[in-house]
Amino acid sequence: MREIVLNDGNKLPCVGFGTYKATNESGYEVVLDAIKAGYRLLDTAKVYGNEEDVARAVKESGIPRQEFFITSKLDRNMLGYDNAKSELENSLKRLGTDYIDLYLLHWPRPDYGKADFDDWKHLDIESWKALEELQKEGKIRSIGVSNFLPHHLQNLLDHTDVVPAVDQLELHPGYTQASACAFCKNHGIALEAWSPIGRGRLSDNAILNSLAPKYNTSIPHLCLVFLHQEGIIVLPKSANYERMKENMALDDMIISEEDMWKIRTMPQVGWSGEHPDCERVYF
Ligand SMILES: NC(=O)c1ccc[n+]([C@@H]2O[C@H](COP(=O)([O-])OP(=O)(O)OC[C@H]3O[C@@H](n4cnc5c(N)ncnc54)[C@H](OP(=O)(O)O)[C@@H]3O)[C@@H](O)[C@H]2O)c1
Repeated sequence: MREIVLNDGNKLPCVGFGTYKATNESGYEVVLDAIKAGYRLLDTAKVYGNEEDVARAVKESGIPRQEFFITSKLDRNMLGYDNAKSELENSLKRLGTDYIDLYLLHWPRPDYGKADFDDWKHLDIESWKALEELQKEGKIRSIGVSNFLPHHLQNLLDHTDVVPAVDQLELHPGYTQASACAFCKNHGIALEAWSPIGRGRLSDNAILNSLAPKYNTSIPHLCLVFLHQEGIIVLPKSANYERMKENMALDDMIISEEDMWKIRTMPQVGWSGEHPDCERVYF
């Protein structure tokens, strides 16, 4: 599996397994299947409620802990210096490990409507300082963020020492967040794509439907190869073993530059409705 070198020198595989809602039906076994299919980057979060399932799958796989890249995230409603420190300890306990490979601030602001929604600049700086210390103590290997747009990132760059290694964003054809991606690339921040296949919302798209047959592939696979060619780490979720394997096979075709432009310039489609600066939009 190809790896991406982060700005702190650590490496991450180009494809990871997304665990959100993955464990709802068969618990840890779906993560164990993903490990058997070849995934070593496992993306979890406190709010997914499945850190224990990830820990059990890693243990039962019999593969040494150091071969895995485990990501977890600080709950957006637990931002702040003291909370970040105690939440990291809680995640370590649930994950049954003494270090996390990548720990992210899950969102730059608490849930909309929370009293401190507008105090995000101070909350982010304090949380980030805690992560910087935890990294120095060896409890986190790489520190990063998720759902941070340029103005959220600039706040950290202006007031803290360590440049985030990663920004995990909603990224897929139809929602390519060009300005946020350009900002990250200019500052050496690696990109990870959440909902890389748009959670199925792209299946009716005319442009993708015209391109997929040309490459003799499916729309989900086309989405993943597109992101892969853009140099973005993808985190597809699947509870199906065959699809898990299909989602890892991203070097078996090449999208032409002309078709890459067709996808990059598609009108916006398939957005989840989640945005860091406003209340969730339900379609
Ligand atoms: N940082 C954040 O705020 C954030 C937010 C959301 C998600 N995430 C992370 O990103 C991961 C992935 O995002 P996601 O779960 O929202 O969406 P996704 O990976 O874009 O889509 C998952 C859906 O696509 C289906 N699928 C997967 N592979 C397929 C294939 N090859 N062909 C057809 N259908 C396929 C899955 O069904 P089956 O299971 O039946 O295959 C599932 O319904 C999450 O699990 C989580 O780790 C992060």
